[in-house]
Amino acid sequence: MPRVEIKIGTSEHAFDCDEGENLLFEAISRSIMIPFNCTSARCGTCRIRVLEGPENLNEVGDREVLRLGEEPVESGYRLACQTFVYGDVRVEVPQPRLF
Ligand code: FES
Repeated sequence: MPRVEIKIGTSEHAFDCDEGENLLFEAISRSIMIPFNCTSARCGTCRIRVLEGPENLNEVGDREVLRLGEEPVESGYRLACQTFVYGDVRVEVPQPRLF
């Protein structure tokens, strides 16, 4: 059973989920609040960065590249609503820049 670890600011969260589950939906169902809006790769609100285990996620889709840009995707950024978990992974929710 995959282990998902999520860093949000100074908070660390972790849970186990079934293989192939959606990262965003699994997180919010456990009251781990990754910001989101559309859940369909249109708004970019659910942006996360993969810290460990990118090989344990589904491949980056065209809609993610379109929304995030190629360079951020190469740096590990994903859209949580488009991300499915197949093994252990550690991600962070980037904090908004204040200036
Ligand atoms: S919630 Fe809008 S892109 Fe994921």
